[in-house]
Amino acid sequence: MINKEIVDKLGYIDELIDPNINLVDEIYKLKKEKDAVILAHYYQYPEIQDIADFVGDSLALSIKAKDVKSKMVVFAGVRFMAETTKILLPDAKVIIPDTNAGCSLADSCDFFSFKMLKEKYPNHLVITYVNTNADIKTISDICCTSSNAEKVVNSIPIDQPIIFAPDKNLGQYIKEKLKRENMILWDGACGVHEKFSLEKILQLKHENPKSKVISHPECPKPIHIISDFIGSTSQLIDFIIIDSSSSYIVATEEGVIHQMKKLSPYKNFIPAPPNYSNFSCNQCSFMKMITLKKLYLSLKYEYPEINLSKELIDKARLPIERMIAIK
Ligand code: 13P
Ligand code: SF4
Repeated sequence: MINKEIVDKLGYIDELIDPNINLVDEIYKLKKEKDAVILAHYYQYPEIQDIADFVGDSLALSIKAKDVKSKMVVFAGVRFMAETTKILLPDAKVIIPDTNAGCSLADSCDFFSFKMLKEKYPNHLVITYVNTNADIKTISDICCTSSNAEKVVNSIPIDQPIIFAPDKNLGQYIKEKLKRENMILWDGACGVHEKFSLEKILQLKHENPKSKVISHPECPKPIHIISDFIGSTSQLIDFIIIDSSSSYIVATEEGVIHQMKKLSPYKNFIPAPPNYSNFSCNQCSFMKMITLKKLYLSLKYEYPEINLSKELIDKARLPIERMIAIK
């Protein structure tokens, strides 16, 4: 019998998996046996999105997590998302198939530097994007996601100064859209969304003149300027369903295209290219650390588990709950 220590030592290697089993069938069996649910983000591999009980953007996943009744949640996404689930469901066992699945944006905002910024501006209200590590949430007033950032900022009186962290592109987009002069932005950005090539998108647009450009607010301003629609992953999906065009250049992590194709099979989706190669897709290497094999092993061994102290959970829950109350 392979135990947790062996899994830990060896990592997730093929030798741990019987080559004769059907992974999908086994995952369904284990889920039932263990009363577990799988939550997955839109940036996950298609086979993971398809096996999940619920697929969503970061806001929908937080809302869903709050209502989960199962004893165990396997979170197919990055660590800050699994941490948010643990914060909202402290009594459940929350498993992430690979603890290395971090987020470069969340990691750009470290506790001590952020605390120093907060101390420099004591009259500012602190809004943090959920893409932060749990310790940052303990010193935040309210969280937001890309789906509700506008609503959250609008819920704050216009004369109240704000610190917005950690994504400067989302922050700048909201700041300009809502004309909030007194908003200080943390200098962070997502390594995936920052890398889309304006030049290559314009070239694609030239080659496909009927295609609309749709982008995530984490993209830099020049990409927003040439976009026909800007929105969170779920807002982009909703847009392509109701919009009359038949082709889109999609400037966000390419995993989202799986849902777009499922929901609008007759439309054409072109992944926006990054600037570092001619390779057309743009993947988040952290999101893509979660594979079907790791998902199976984590469910089987109930490991690795997200563990947070009660003190941290209690402090970090408040800004998330304030956000969920606004939606
Ligand atoms: P959503 O809020 O659209 O789910 O995006 C999360 C994210 O990590 C974007 O890079
Ligand atoms: Fe973080 Fe960017 Fe990956 Fe989203 S796409 S999880 S912001 S690194």
